[in-house]
Parts: sequence; C-alpha cells; structure tokens
Amino acid sequence: MIVSIVLAAGEGTRMKSSTPKVLHKIAGKPLVEYVIRSAKDAGSEKTVVIVGHKSDLVSKELENQDVVVRQQPISEDVPYGTGFAVMQALDCFKDDDVVVVLTGDTPLITSCTLEDFIQFFKKNDYEACVLTANLKDPTGYGRIIRKENSSIGKIVEEKDASDKEKAVQEVNSGIFAFKGSALRHALKYLETDNAQGELYLTDVIKILNEEGHRIGAYILKDANEMLGINSRIQLAHVEKLMRRRINDRHMMNGVSLLDPEITIIEDDVEIGNDTVIYPGAILSGKTKIGKNCLLYGNTRIKDSVIGDDVVLDNVLVEESRIHNHVKLGPYAHIRPNSEIHDHVKIGNFVEVKNASLGEGTKAGHLAYIGDAEVGKEVNIGCGTIFVNYNGLEKFHTEVGDHAFIGSNSNLVAPVEIEDYGYIAAGSTITKKVEEGQLSIERGKQKNIDNWSKRLGLMKDGGCQNE
Ligand code: UD1
Ligand code: CA
Repeated sequence: MIVSIVLAAGEGTRMKSSTPKVLHKIAGKPLVEYVIRSAKDAGSEKTVVIVGHKSDLVSKELENQDVVVRQQPISEDVPYGTGFAVMQALDCFKDDDVVVVLTGDTPLITSCTLEDFIQFFKKNDYEACVLTANLKDPTGYGRIIRKENSSIGKIVEEKDASDKEKAVQEVNSGIFAFKGSALRHALKYLETDNAQGELYLTDVIKILNEEGHRIGAYILKDANEMLGINSRIQLAHVEKLMRRRINDRHMMNGVSLLDPEITIIEDDVEIGNDTVIYPGAILSGKTKIGKNCLLYGNTRIKDSVIGDDVVLDNVLVEESRIHNHVKLGPYAHIRPNSEIHDHVKIGNFVEVKNASLGEGTKAGHLAYIGDAEVGKEVNIGCGTIFVNYNGLEKFHTEVGDHAFIGSNSNLVAPVEIEDYGYIAAGSTITKKVEEGQLSIERGKQKNIDNWSKRLGLMKDGGCQNE
C-alpha cells in the first residue's frame, strides 16, 4: 500500500501571518490541498496530514479532503522539526508499505512527477529515496551531499552547512519515499544536535546510509515543482507559476486568453471552448463558463454558472446563474441568488439581487432589481427601482410577462404587476396592476405663464406666451 504523510504542522514564521502557512492560498486554494491532491492522484491510498500550529483551523479546512489527521504536539516540552512531525504518524503505516513524505508548502509538485518518483523507488528496491533538484540559487534548502561513488550520503540543512556544503547546488525537495520498516527504524535514532535544535527528517538519510542501506535520489526535470513557500515573496512567485499552469490548460482546451499573465483563473473554474477572455478577468471559486463567450475588461465572476454565447463587459457576477445569449454590462452587478434567462440584456449601472429575469427581458440602464421575479420580454426603464426594504424587512415583487415599466418608476414591494401591465414613467407603484392596465401615479402637470420673467430671470422680450 502507498501511504502519504503530508507535513503541515509548522507555523510559517516567515509569512508573518495569523493564518497557518499551509492555509495560505494560491489560485484560490490552500497550499496543502494541492499537495494532498497530487499525492492522491499519484496513487496514494491513505493520506495522513500532520497538523500542529493552529491545528483547529487546518483540521477544519481538511474536513472534506478524505485524509487522516494526526496532531503534532507543539510546546516547549517536546522537540520540533520535520522528523518529529513524521513520528506522529507511526501508527498509520505498516513495515511493507511505501511511505511518501511530502511538505505541505510545495504546491507545484505534480502527480506525474510523484508517480515517476514512486516507480523509480520501487523499481530500484531502495530503502529510501529523495526527490532532489539542481538549483542555480540553492539558498535556504537542505543540500544533498553525495559520496565518492555519487550515491547519497546525507542531507545538510543550510544552517548546519559548511561553506563547501553550501556551494552544492543539488537540494532536497522535502519529498521522500521510504520503505515503512526503514523509516520506522531510523526515526528512533534522530537527535536534536543541530543548529536549530530540531528533529530533522533529513537525518534519516544519514542514519540509513551509515547502516549501509540502499538510498536513491530522483532529480526533478522541472525544478520549479519543488519550490517551497516560506515567505510572501515566494507565495507570489508560486502563484504566478500556478496561474500560468492553469491558464495553459485552458488554452490547450480551446479557450483564448489575450494575456494569460494578467488573467486570474482559479483552479476549479471550467471554461468552454472558443470563449475569449480579455486581460483583467478574475474567475473564482466553482465558476463554470460555457462556449463562445466574450469576457471584456475587469469582469469578475465568483461561484457562478454562465451559459453559452454570453457577453460580459466589465461586470461582477456573484453566486448566480446566467443562461445563454445574455449580454451584461458594461458595469453591471449581479448579486447572489439571481437567475438571468436566455437573451436578457442588462446594461450600464444595473444591479440585480436575488431576482430572476425571464427570457428576452431588458434593463438597459441605471436600475435596481432586488428580491423579484420578472417575467419574459419585460422592459425595465432607466432609473427603475424595485423598492424592497422598509428598514426592517425585505419584500418581494412580481412582474408578469411583456410588462412595460416606464423610466424612473418605483415598484414598492410587496407588489405585483400582471402580464402586459404598463407603468407610466415616474410612477410610484404600491398597489397591484392587473393584466394589460396602465398605471400612472404622479402629480398632474401644471404650467404657469411668465414664471421666469416674474422672477427677473428673463429681461428683454423672448417670452413666447406674452
Ligand atoms: C525543509 C527541509 C529541507 C528542504 C526544504 C524543502 C528539513 C529539516 N528540512 O526545510 O531540507 O530543502 O524543506 O522545502 O526537513 N513541519 C511540521 N512540523 C514541524 C516542522 C515543520 O509539520 O515540526 C512542516 C511545515 O508545516 C512545512 C514542512 O514541514 O510544511 C517543512 O517545514 P519548513 O520549516 O518549511 O522546512 P524548511 O526549512 O523549508
Ligand atoms: Ca519550507
């Protein structure tokens, strides 16, 4: 059986954050979740996550991940370190299991690489194997110290390394494969006699080597995969690499991104082919976008489903459903729990909240449509307000098919406009309007002659009514 142990108990001091390091996000997802997913996709049958610092927060995040959680005690009375972390999972693997240890802060590691690594470990019948990489700048990483016959002798942490060792460019990725029995055995001999006073997992390699066991090293083809995140600067760097990876996947699937560097698409987003996305879009959460859509400018879509042939121009859509052939924007805001049916047009500065708009309905300019069910082919004039709130409670409005809501009307909820109801511009509607009725609610217009002249605004002549 393949058992993975993901180390996620560290505080991440260098992040200077109240959030534990492994819960920091890239492309919308906590770092640790990428590592768990890659381990599982590579064939891990049991995945153990070691939590410690702010373990309640980390455990909560892991609730839906189908992992075994083990708690690393964090106090001055017990040691600290990656070796101590792995010791918390001794009851989770058997002697003949393949145990893969991963760090929770290296999200770029792919399942393909892990699969190759595990194969390499098994094929060569090693007791232990370390995934390494050659870096131009190895600063901060543990160095791989090879013996004269080029097999692995030990791993030396930066803080414990001599100048000669520091010059070594092959580094420890933090990912290992062990035979269960060898790992269990070597963990017994770890000591804290190092610069950081920690139990280093890396010392397992030295111990097994000294006992003459077979130890392998698998060198990463793409060293970026092992990039660990210890600071916000590294977080931003890895975010950029992950973004490019996600965006490449969409482009391979037939989505056009005019500038993939500045198009932000989170990991779970799905997009249909022939959709074209201009720079600046932010697509997040469980968003799904259909085929042949056009997304302009600073469009942000969060947790929403968008149909096919939709045009979105500088809009914000949250937790809503947009059907096919819809045009939104520029500058529209679709707030949660809205449903916009086929061929709807929503234009400049329109806000929709908790409302459904039927097929072919139009709200071209400056309107607020909240807590409403609007039928098909309705015209919502400029400046219309669905007055849904009395300061205490929200109320619902219903508008039937083919209704016409004249500009600058107020529909004071709760209220109903039946099919073909016709609201005169500027009306404040508080009572039901029945099928086909005109409702007009405004003061009668009165024209007073010579007004401007009387005020002295108009001097010589020019008054047509005189
Ligand atoms: C570690 C390795 C180093 C390697 C680097 C790769 C050791 C001693 N060093 O260093 O050789 O090059 O990773 O990224 O292993 N953690 C725990 N419990 C602890 C300490 C750490 O669970 O007591 C977890 C952290 O949450 C983190 C991971 O282990 O996810 C690595 O810890 P970190 O402090 O980042 O180790 P590095 O100094 O980067
Ligand atoms: Ca690290």
